[in-house]
Amino acid sequence: MSDQTGNPLDDPAADPFAIAAQAASDIARITGVERHDIALTLGSGWGAAADIIGETTANFPATEVTGFSAPALEGHVGTLRSILTPRGKRVLVIGARTHFYEGHGVRRVVHSVRTAAATGAKTMVLTNGAGGIKHTWKPGTPVLISDHINLTAATPLEGATFIDLTDLYSMRLRDLARSIDPSLDEGVYCQFTGPQYETPAEVQMAKAIGGHIVGMSTALEAIAARQAGMEILGLTLVTNMAAGIQTTPLSHEEVMEAGRLAGPVISSLLARVIGAL
Ligand code: HPA
Repeated sequence: MSDQTGNPLDDPAADPFAIAAQAASDIARITGVERHDIALTLGSGWGAAADIIGETTANFPATEVTGFSAPALEGHVGTLRSILTPRGKRVLVIGARTHFYEGHGVRRVVHSVRTAAATGAKTMVLTNGAGGIKHTWKPGTPVLISDHINLTAATPLEGATFIDLTDLYSMRLRDLARSIDPSLDEGVYCQFTGPQYETPAEVQMAKAIGGHIVGMSTALEAIAARQAGMEILGLTLVTNMAAGIQTTPLSHEEVMEAGRLAGPVISSLLARVIGAL
């Protein structure tokens, strides 16, 4: 369904899970694939991975699927893809992330994750580009997300929905990723609302409360994925050292350039991880 006709998620009375079920049936119809096994959200820098995971059997604008919004940002491809891996797994690739800072509400932010779950996916791989706090991480370093701190003051959960977040970022999947690249470090991801980058003081706060990565996505999506019963793997590309950790100003161009330079290496890592799932 097209965005121009209004997004059904914007109706407060609508059931977001029913809309996700409708989206999943749109995807089944468009792709001819009844069920997907794995879902993968591509963040800044990770886009090239989709080409090497397996055979693309369908590639279509996300806006053809109920509830999806047009992408807000250059560098974030607004497409969905269905890929068949060499080992016969069906991967739904989400190149159409809706960010919290777009201001459309959390239901729209997590709609892709709920849709992925409704297609049958049991594993949710969330990737992003973000700022690094650990001095040992240079731009271009991929790291595993071990946990998160949600600084958005928002949640995808509605009502008294008490959900356990222990081991939110699956230890099993982190171990599996490390079996492919033993040099992978890990860290705690802090989701800020953005879209402004953090101040150096905010980065110091994130560090003081146990954070190692600062970004504008992922945590809300991970909560929704856990609610949907999926196993979650989080991967960050450190596109820059966080504000004040690096002395030079941050820019979107720098972030995109780091993604471009690291693209080939992190894409092959991601393809190998997906292949092992
Ligand atoms: N902060 C927040 N989001 C980001 C950053 C950052 O330093 N780099 C890329 N996305």
